[in-house]
Amino acid sequence: MRRSLMTLILAAAMPVAAIAQDAGGQAAGSQAAGGPGAKPALYTADQANAGAAVYAQSCAACHGSQLEGVAAPALKGPAFGDMANAQSLTADALLDVIVNTMPQSDPGSLKPEEFAAVTAYILQQNNYPAGTVALTKDEPGLKDAKITP
Ligand code: HEC
Repeated sequence: MRRSLMTLILAAAMPVAAIAQDAGGQAAGSQAAGGPGAKPALYTADQANAGAAVYAQSCAACHGSQLEGVAAPALKGPAFGDMANAQSLTADALLDVIVNTMPQSDPGSLKPEEFAAVTAYILQQNNYPAGTVALTKDEPGLKDAKITP
């Protein structure tokens, strides 16, 4: 008796669970494959490689060669994650901060593609996957991409 009741409850609950899962998938529409919570692909590998050179040249002196933070805050790891969380930082806002205020010694001194590349590098260092579309200011999805370490 108990068993058949359980079966009945399970049978009734299953379609509901399936519907809930569908809705979740749609809400995550602009995210890359891998489901909600997975980090989206926002830049190309070439771009991140170019960004590594920009970083070494223009950022490492203050932020550390491993982005670990020296005179300036870390740009990866738990401290960076806390800052990103506190600001609800998105990839779009990260690019804006860098374009508008960095390098702190000479803001605006890099070309737009160098700013995009160094942002791509920071994403790569925070375990965002590379994709097929280069990071640009107008890239769809940049505004929705929350930064997490
Ligand atoms: C002359 C030193 C210096 C250089 C060079 C520099 N930064 Fe910064 N950066 C800072 C300081 C200091 C802060 C913290 C500013 C603040 O809290 O208001 C900062 C903050 C940041 C932040 C925000 C981090 C946070 O925790 O709020 C980002 C992102 C950033 N820098 C990226 C870069 C990038 C990318 C470059 C190279 C293009 C760069 N910085 C070059 C000194 C520097």
